[in-house]
Amino acid sequence: MNAGGDSDDSSASVAARSARSGEGSLAEDGFVPSALGTREHWNAVYERELQTFQEYGDTGEIWFGEESMTRLIRWMQKHKIPLDASVLDIGTGNGVFLVELAKFGFSDITGIDYSPSAIQLSGRIIEKEGLSNIKLKVEDFLNLSTELSGFHICVDKGTFDAISLNPDNAIEKRKQYVKSLSVVLKVKGFFLITSCNWTKEELLEEFSEGFELFEELSTPTFSFGGRTGNSVAALVFQKKFR
Ligand SMILES: C[S@@+](CC[C@H](N)C(=O)[O-])C[C@H]1O[C@@H](n2cnc3c(N)ncnc32)[C@H](O)[C@@H]1O
Repeated sequence: MNAGGDSDDSSASVAARSARSGEGSLAEDGFVPSALGTREHWNAVYERELQTFQEYGDTGEIWFGEESMTRLIRWMQKHKIPLDASVLDIGTGNGVFLVELAKFGFSDITGIDYSPSAIQLSGRIIEKEGLSNIKLKVEDFLNLSTELSGFHICVDKGTFDAISLNPDNAIEKRKQYVKSLSVVLKVKGFFLITSCNWTKEELLEEFSEGFELFEELSTPTFSFGGRTGNSVAALVFQKKFR
């Protein structure tokens, strides 16, 4: 897994394939556990990006590229999601998606990340954009503070992927992710996930408890050896009634 646009040869898809089949020993779920699943890794990434932003004003990588953000906003537009709907970006990284949401007109936006440097960077970028109404919080999604609940929309771009690579019992962590999602999302609320590590079918299985597929978003396809597939899956789930 890595940053990049979701074109055929994106480093995201290449790294996703190696996460499944690459060097190192496979965990029970078929992934090679990796530093990408640890807080230390992300802290180091965003500390570097924070420094680069301070020196050069560069906001850093947008996971799955600009198109991944446009795809989500287009979906919100198509479904006439009200601009005062509460939106939570899970593992917001540099917070660039929050900026896009605010520029589009959303007024109740929250970004969380377990890396304090990611939240610091998001804050600086948001400040530079002259936006003030975005809530940011250092928060581990797998160990939530009770204040986070009642969201209409939750977005995940690459965070479930990262959690799936955690060297310390990733299977349990994925189960906890689904539980946390059930806590923060309102009944009938939407969960928009973009993943390069999981196929549509696998995501349906992962989120079968309490969520149902609402829509699959189209992503670029690639062909190899006479077969065609997608390097990135983008799905919208809806939380079922309890
Ligand atoms: C692949 S990056 C994606 C960042 C951002 N969503 C984007 O699209 O650019 C994964 C992000 O998830 C965050 N993350 C991973 N595990 C987390 C957890 N348990 N709670 C909160 N954030 C987490 C990392 O710090 C990192 O910012």
